[in-house]
Amino acid sequence: MSALPESVEEIAGGLLAAGYLAGDSTALVAYLATRLDKPVLVEGPAGVGKTELAKALATFLGRDLVRLQCYEGLDEAKALYEWNYRKQLLRIQAESDGTGWSEVQDDIFGEEFLLARPLLAAISSATPVVLLIDEIDKADQEFEAMLLELLSDFQITIPELGRIAASSQPIVVLTSNNSRELTEALKRRCLYLWLDYPELEHELEIVRLHSPGLDETVARKLVEIISQIRELDLKKPPSIAESIDWARALLLLGASDIDPETFRQTMSVIVKHRTDLDTVAARVGVKLQESAA
Ligand SMILES: Nc1ncnc2c1ncn2[C@@H]1O[C@H](COP(=O)(O)OP(=O)(O)OP(=O)(O)O)[C@@H](O)[C@H]1O
Ligand SMILES: [Mg+2]
Repeated sequence: MSALPESVEEIAGGLLAAGYLAGDSTALVAYLATRLDKPVLVEGPAGVGKTELAKALATFLGRDLVRLQCYEGLDEAKALYEWNYRKQLLRIQAESDGTGWSEVQDDIFGEEFLLARPLLAAISSATPVVLLIDEIDKADQEFEAMLLELLSDFQITIPELGRIAASSQPIVVLTSNNSRELTEALKRRCLYLWLDYPELEHELEIVRLHSPGLDETVARKLVEIISQIRELDLKKPPSIAESIDWARALLLLGASDIDPETFRQTMSVIVKHRTDLDTVAARVGVKLQESAA
């Protein structure tokens, strides 16, 4: 396990070594998060590297990544802990008839019968982990309230067992797609990072990082086209994930240029709605045709 980073440059270098090219604000917030023991809330559109940031951070720090994927209806039993009912039942059945309830009860509500879910696992880990609470906007507000308590005190109370204090403090990364407004109380406790589609040069570097074999001029043309497409009014603009997929596809097909024909054949890698396909074909496809003519 490596020590905490000493500078913003160090963390940027470490993330890069883990395959993540952080922009200036990302590196800064990541650095502050590791040094100030504050959770980071990362918001932004789909596919801009929110989840990947947490993964790269864990790799760089040599820590385990504990991931909690949020969804509607997620509750404490799935996120925090749950009693292992089957095991409890077996324990009761295995007991000889003469044993009183009080003795069995003491026993079956011990830690041995507890199933630690990601949040409990993260704070009870012997060595500190990176805790990724992914897509928090998908969970309900009540869940957020429970989370707040955990994030401010780093302890939980289990009625039958009492208070369990954290044995290590995780670095916490929360991500949100902005599908609903998060509570002020949550935001107040977190450092905030807004991740957007990157600048052209930054995206070019990311694409090259993922597809080093792709021809330099093709890679540049690719990010230029992607940024043109993002300016159209689409249902789902292509993200970094799509740029990377497109680069891989072009590399595999051995494309030496993105000519109108190549574009037509491969544009479903980057645009994934029927109506968007029409718009992109009409606007960008035609433009490529004109410049090729
Ligand atoms: N700065 C970056 N450096 C390297 N790779 C990146 C970067 N940003 C994004 N990527 C790549 O883009 C892809 C999408 O990233 P990720 O899954 O983290 O997106 P996300 O923001 O979590 O999306 P969603 O909201 O859909 O979950 C991944 O393959 C990731 O490796
Ligand atoms: Mg994600």
